[in-house]
Amino acid sequence: MKYSKFLLNKNYEFSRSSVLKHLPSNLLINSYKSISKWKGYSPTPLLKLDKLNKKLKLNNIFYKDESKRFHLKSFKALGGAYAVEKIAKRGKQIIVSSATAGNHGRSVAWGAKRLNLKCKIFVSKYVSQTRVNEIKKFGAEVIRVNGNYEASLKKCQILSKKNNWKIIQDVSTKNYKYVPQLTMAGYSILIKEISRQTKQYITHIFLQAGVGGLAAGIVAGVAKYFKKIPKIIIVEPDRADCVLQSIKKNRLKKIRIKKESIMGGMSCNEMSLVPWQILRKATNCCVSVSDKNVARTIASLKDKKFSKSSIVGGECATPGIIALISISNNIKIKKLINLDKKSNVLIIGCEGNADVKLYKQLLSKGRK
Ligand SMILES: Cc1ncc(COP(=O)(O)O)c(C=O)c1O
Repeated sequence: MKYSKFLLNKNYEFSRSSVLKHLPSNLLINSYKSISKWKGYSPTPLLKLDKLNKKLKLNNIFYKDESKRFHLKSFKALGGAYAVEKIAKRGKQIIVSSATAGNHGRSVAWGAKRLNLKCKIFVSKYVSQTRVNEIKKFGAEVIRVNGNYEASLKKCQILSKKNNWKIIQDVSTKNYKYVPQLTMAGYSILIKEISRQTKQYITHIFLQAGVGGLAAGIVAGVAKYFKKIPKIIIVEPDRADCVLQSIKKNRLKKIRIKKESIMGGMSCNEMSLVPWQILRKATNCCVSVSDKNVARTIASLKDKKFSKSSIVGGECATPGIIALISISNNIKIKKLINLDKKSNVLIIGCEGNADVKLYKQLLSKGRK
């Protein structure tokens, strides 16, 4: 396996206080307090990819299995639903709305259903019918917009303003920070859980990024809960490498996506603002990977090639593993990031078969 691009961040400088300035500690604490009380809550498994570890000769490869998150099959269950709960506390019987590539909207819809709120979800023409049906299962009204994600967000904003719906978006901009911060605070509990699941110090985290919300939430969790700061390696589809390009130029950079990646949740052309403020310095390096190895990696996880037990990991759960294997194949880069027999690597298995139909297709393709 080979990565597409690798970039070392020249501006790297990890500062706990700076990270927690952009995603305040009390938000992290409150999110854990609330979510850990939700019905059906339990920490997701921290698995070990023992077989892969034997091949790569590291100390440990941990895999945080978010396919088990509240039956929503993705870490996103923590973000949107939590933001809905916090915003709902401010006013009674509100109607919530959101634009989504799939999993975020599902979380918002689930969060609304938990509290008996009405919910309107806007999707682009690229969102699969399977994902739409999953959102509808939670009683939300789904509005399909003939355009891309940006078009769906625009429509959501216009209709929400007109109808006084409360927008629960996971992407932050200059004038819209608090709600996305809530979603990111929700994601940080992955790290709170891990800090209790292993006594080993994590040395490297391979972190997927779309707009960077998951990555920023995890980095904030690291700043708050980990004693030692691991290397932060951001992984993106090479067709949508907006974090890599922004870090390269040291400014928020919007890119043009020529073709959508199969890793749909990560196919984003511009970073969210708060994640940029956090990741611009907290990131050690960025790696981009092609779609080529996604199906194969899904099959390897399922068919116990990496671990003793079978793992259901969807398309977005694979890039961390692809990046890790690719870097291990490159002695120079491996050395550059100190990946060796003492390393305890953390991979975020951020989703299971959230899109059942696509998962089946990729699994059978990967087995060929
Ligand atoms: C299913 C899914 N959606 C979206 C994302 C991207 O998250 P974000 O846009 O917060 O960076 C990921 C993570 O990589 C993911 O697994």
